[in-house]
This record gives sequence, C-alpha cells and structure tokens, in this order.
Amino acid sequence: MLYEELKDRFGEEVVRHPSVAKGREDILIGYLERIKPKVVLEIGTALGLSSAMIAKHAEIVYTIDIFAHPLRKEIWRYLGVRDKIKDFVLNDAEKKELCKEIQFDFAFVDGDHSFPGVKLDLDCVKDKCDKILVDDYKVCKCVEELVGNVEGFNKEYKRGFAYLERK
Ligand SMILES: C[S@@+](CC[C@H](N)C(=O)[O-])C[C@H]1O[C@@H](n2cnc3c(N)ncnc32)[C@H](O)[C@@H]1O
Repeated sequence: MLYEELKDRFGEEVVRHPSVAKGREDILIGYLERIKPKVVLEIGTALGLSSAMIAKHAEIVYTIDIFAHPLRKEIWRYLGVRDKIKDFVLNDAEKKELCKEIQFDFAFVDGDHSFPGVKLDLDCVKDKCDKILVDDYKVCKCVEELVGNVEGFNKEYKRGFAYLERK
C-alpha cells in the first residue's frame, strides 16, 4: 500500500498530513480507472500523495495548494511521477486565474473545506470540466450542501467522496 511504503520511507511527516491515501485510495483509483482522464486539476496538494496516485493514471496533473512543502517533490521523484506533475502554490485569486487559463478534463477538489472555500473551488472547476470528485462530503456539512447546489450534474456519493458528472 502506497501510504505504508511512504510512511516507512519518509516517516512521521507523512503521518501528520491528511490524505486520501490513508485508507480511501481505492475510491480515488476506482474513479481514475473509470474516467481515464488525460489532464487533471487537483486543489489541495498537501504532501502530494493523491497527486502521485492521479499521475499514475493521467498524462498531466496540475495541483494547487496555498502552502509549499519540500517533501512533496521528493515523494514524487521517489514514486517516479515528478515529470507529470505541475505544482503551484497560489492564493485564492491566483488559483481562480490559473483555473481559467488551463484546460483539464477531471478535477479533484480537496483543499479548503470551509463553506466559502469549497464554493470557490467548485466555481473554479464546474464550468471547465465534466467530471469532478470532491473529498470529505460526509466530514464537512458544507460540501454536502454545496455539491447539492451544483446544477446540471449527476451525483453519486461513496465513502466520503461526492462525484459529479455532467448530464
Ligand atoms: C486534505 S489536504 C489534501 C490532501 C491531498 N489531496 C491528499 O489526499 O493527499 C488539504 C490541503 O488543502 C490545502 N488548502 C487549504 N486551503 C486551500 C486553498 N484555499 N486553496 C488550495 N489549497 C488549500 C491545505 O494546505 C492542505 O494541504
């Protein structure tokens, strides 16, 4: 399992950061296998564990976070996916601009889990791609409400993830 391998290799820092790799990677990988995306936008990089999983199933991953972490590039190199990942450390205004500029066919939203944060991230991606996966649907009530408000998409919910696919 990726998480156990990285924990052994990189230690406590891997344990300290939240990640879908901690027990729910099968859901993310299941969607990647089903969707077969080419270019993916991820919001919420953390240590880059989900970015690495996405990179194994896509040609390019754009990933955005408000914080830099030196270990993420080391992890990507260790896993052999560094070349496929374009990472950005941006504030919300800059993130909004980047999302307008780039083209992507799948978005993974796992950044700021506050109501305005999730709203902004959904607004950044919902007119740009037809497939969106949002994490922590069950943990944050606001995700449930905001995903419910997005029109024009079929929605399914699995172990904390909300998946939206354009009708
Ligand atoms: C749950 S972690 C991401 C975990 C990662 N996707 C994974 O599964 O390995 C959430 C990340 O979102 C970042 N974040 C918080 N606010 C943000 C914002 N406004 N825009 C982008 N990222 C943000 C945090 O710094 C944190 O690294």
